[in-house]
Amino acid sequence: MLKISVLASGRGSNFQSIIDAVKSGRLNAVISLLITDNPEAFAIQRAGDNGISHLVLQPKQFGSKDGYYQSIADELKKRGVDLVVLAGFMRIIGKPLIDAFPNRIMNIHPALLPSFPGLHGQKQARDYGVKISGCTVHFVDAGMDTGPVIIQAAVPVRDDDTEETLSERILKFEHKIYPEAIRLFAEGRLEVAGRRVRIKDSPPDDQGLTSPSLG
Ligand code: GRF
Repeated sequence: MLKISVLASGRGSNFQSIIDAVKSGRLNAVISLLITDNPEAFAIQRAGDNGISHLVLQPKQFGSKDGYYQSIADELKKRGVDLVVLAGFMRIIGKPLIDAFPNRIMNIHPALLPSFPGLHGQKQARDYGVKISGCTVHFVDAGMDTGPVIIQAAVPVRDDDTEETLSERILKFEHKIYPEAIRLFAEGRLEVAGRRVRIKDSPPDDQGLTSPSLG
């Protein structure tokens, strides 16, 4: 069975959506470890509540950025982890970890990439004035939010949205598409060719775009 490790820095609501998908049987996987860089992260409590062990690993415990990511890679390899899931992990992943898990690290971003990468994707979209934003699950490469796109959900931006209301609307879709992307991976249905990710055996109207709220 697919072994997952989640890396999170904060509240961990996406982590929770993955836990829930596993518990309900929608996702056939085991979450073997949470790694966090923040000893105060609420994600730690979620792990404890669900019998998932955790490690707090902070860059300051290591001599260099590479040393930090090498030690994370070592922990994950030691435990036989197949897929690394970033869920609000607020750091750019270093090369040693990317090299150890090529196309086996996923991230979720709260905007339709390549628009609005980096921090505060929801605020960037609102301030820019786009009418549609959303969220993106992608594989992680060495850039910031630049790796191959797996699935996206489109979410409307309303005139009276604040950063908070838009973030809330997008978050509901994050919680749907992240477990879904992991499920596709677990089923061996994601085929990466350069920048493009093909979802194998999916009907023409179900190829990685979710947009129910747009009607
Ligand atoms: C989410 O909006 C996610 O898209 C972004 O960071 C936030 C993490 O939220 N990468 P949570 O910790 O999963 O609740």
